[in-house]
Amino acid sequence: MENAVKEKIDSLESGSLLSAEEFIFLLENRTPSAAEYAADKASKIRDAVYGKDIYIRGLIEFTNICKNDCYYCGIRKSNKNAARYRLSKEDILNCADYGYDIGFRTFVLQGGEDAFFTDEVLTDIIKSIKNNHPDCALTLSVGERSKDSYQKLFDAGADRYLLRHETADDDHYSHLHPPYLSLSNRKKCLYELKEIGYQTGAGFMVGSPGQTKETLAKDLIFLRELEPEMIGIGPFIPHKDTPFKDEKSGTLEDTLYLLSLIRIMLPEVLLPATTALGTIHPNGREMGILSGANVVMPNLSPPNVRKKYMLYDNKICTGEEAAECLSCLSSRINSIGYSLSTDRGDHIKIRRK
Ligand code: 5AD
Ligand code: FES
Repeated sequence: MENAVKEKIDSLESGSLLSAEEFIFLLENRTPSAAEYAADKASKIRDAVYGKDIYIRGLIEFTNICKNDCYYCGIRKSNKNAARYRLSKEDILNCADYGYDIGFRTFVLQGGEDAFFTDEVLTDIIKSIKNNHPDCALTLSVGERSKDSYQKLFDAGADRYLLRHETADDDHYSHLHPPYLSLSNRKKCLYELKEIGYQTGAGFMVGSPGQTKETLAKDLIFLRELEPEMIGIGPFIPHKDTPFKDEKSGTLEDTLYLLSLIRIMLPEVLLPATTALGTIHPNGREMGILSGANVVMPNLSPPNVRKKYMLYDNKICTGEEAAECLSCLSSRINSIGYSLSTDRGDHIKIRRK
């Protein structure tokens, strides 16, 4: 490895605010030895902050109905081949009860932007889950809403919110999304979520069509400025019924290297080894952990809807029961010297309070 790369990774570790050019330099010079150096450093940093615990989040994909038409996403509204579903309140509460019994202490309600789930409907569901399981954290992942709506959901008991920014470059954003969606609104939502007090998650796909080292440098700088508590990154994977069906997937190597750089830059961030990473490589999630990740998000959705929540092709774990995934993941994580934790897994700064 070039000495200059090592020095740049070291200066990222010591808190230097790298410029876009410096991030581009790091991305251009990803050799296997640079990646190994970064992964090793990232792993040590994660161990120092969070130890050997890997946090689990039970993902409840409660609706695949979406009013948006993002070009990369399998549940975009123009996809007429998607079999649409919406879980009832009862279904959702049953998922949470079952998840609680098998050890989950965080539930993630994720769905398309489905107008059925008004503030009223969602607050009722949030209150019931929090009432049934007061020791659990509740994360929402339901897209762009007004600040007033975010506030109501927070007041009802939601603790965290995931809203990937997708890309921090305006032109790239419009290459991935229809004209009525904008990066500026996405950023506004993220800042509002933080202001309200959510533990907030941003993030992006690695290798999305039109992504360059320049746009990635902007992503890293945006993340440093926003300083989200959580960052979700995973490879882009084409879905057969979208405009990007013939595009290439993001790579394992790029994703792992970015996970490491993010961990080094933001030592305390909660960083999942995503299902998409597990989809492009059979040991993708383990490698993600060894590159600095510290969260996994197994699927808690009822088995009969799993295959319908297809954001991309060949998604793993759509045939398994949640308990099967949990024991599978547990042995995978143990095999690399880590263990699944049944803690709520809040960001470390929240626990210090
Ligand atoms: N490949 C990988 N990730 C995708 N997402 C949506 N579509 C795809 C795809 N084709 C990601 C987006 C979104 C998150 C819920 O899933 O980044 O924010
Ligand atoms: Fe789902 Fe391994 S994690 S089967």
